[in-house]
Amino acid sequence: MSTPLIRVEDLSVEIKTGRGLLKAIRGVSFEVGAGDSIGIVGESGSGKSITLKAILGLLPNNAQVTAGKIFIKGVDASTLNKKARRALISETAGMVFQDAIAALNPVISVGAQIAEVPRFRLGQSKSEARATALKLMQQVGISDGEERFDLYPHQLSGGLRQRIAIAIALSSNPQVLFCDEPTTALDVTIQAQVLRLLLELRRDSGLGLVFVTHDLAVVNEICDSIKVMYAGKFVEIGGVDDTFNRPTHPYTYSLLKAAPDPEAVVSRLFTIGGEAPNLTLPVLGCPFAPRCFTAVAECGTSEPELRAVENSQSACFNSHEHKSWRAAEQKSGAL
Ligand SMILES: Nc1ncnc2c1ncn2[C@@H]1O[C@H](COP(=O)(O)OP(=O)(O)O)[C@@H](O)[C@H]1O
Ligand SMILES: [Mg+2]
Repeated sequence: MSTPLIRVEDLSVEIKTGRGLLKAIRGVSFEVGAGDSIGIVGESGSGKSITLKAILGLLPNNAQVTAGKIFIKGVDASTLNKKARRALISETAGMVFQDAIAALNPVISVGAQIAEVPRFRLGQSKSEARATALKLMQQVGISDGEERFDLYPHQLSGGLRQRIAIAIALSSNPQVLFCDEPTTALDVTIQAQVLRLLLELRRDSGLGLVFVTHDLAVVNEICDSIKVMYAGKFVEIGGVDDTFNRPTHPYTYSLLKAAPDPEAVVSRLFTIGGEAPNLTLPVLGCPFAPRCFTAVAECGTSEPELRAVENSQSACFNSHEHKSWRAAEQKSGAL
């Protein structure tokens, strides 16, 4: 088996906050190989962005990796100095963050920002780099690139800025693309075009994709596997079809509110009553137990680890009962 492009082993991240030390990531493991497409879903605050930032070496100053390892193309990132690590990650991975305004440089034209890596890292001449940038602009749905090349970020709409950010992420020919809510600012037609481009890159050059999104329709369209995050951990891991049709963790079940007809799946995650736990306090038992429709006494005292359930993995003591959840909920009138 070839070395995965990215491998994360039992990663933990703590963040210093005004309320105390926050255990934001509590033992997360996964890997991304060429051509993989992984969706990460979960409520706001569950640790999705911090996980990606830890991998990319972009944690805020008050956050620290406190346990675990990150391997980039087989190299343990903790053995590299900052500069070497940055070089290795930037030749391996591209990233598109939710906040395209923050990601773009306000005083450099958007065309020049896309051309920068082709020109200065990939060694293209000025005119080659310009041509590369124009091609990327076209690929992300900006047809009048010549006219927009010299504009500054503030002169473009949110949707256009987001597309520029995607073009910049692709300008280094990454082997893996990390996308954190990348298409939320795009209208559906452009979103479809961007997703089509990513799928083509995946098919033609084995681009690995890690996609954080609230949009289940997007996960359904472009991801093979899904990881569901809750309170700093993955609580369910599985294939997209298995997870959408037969969730084995009650949190996933509640997020999906499984439509009777899987084709009619709501495209957004469902909101669940109650709140996620405060991770500045010790976690006693399953962190989802207070909000869970299937919790038993044991759930309040020990925290379940991921274990195999049919084709998936689930961190729930009751996951073997997943087939009966719908019936039980209907009976209790919760559905
Ligand atoms: N810079 C920061 N300072 C303090 N707390 C932070 C910071 N960034 C994230 N957090 C906290 O870390 C937890 C995980 O955040 P995040 O990974 O951004 O969640 P998600 O992306 O899943 O919405 C949240 O409780 C969030 O409030
Ligand atoms: Mg986030």
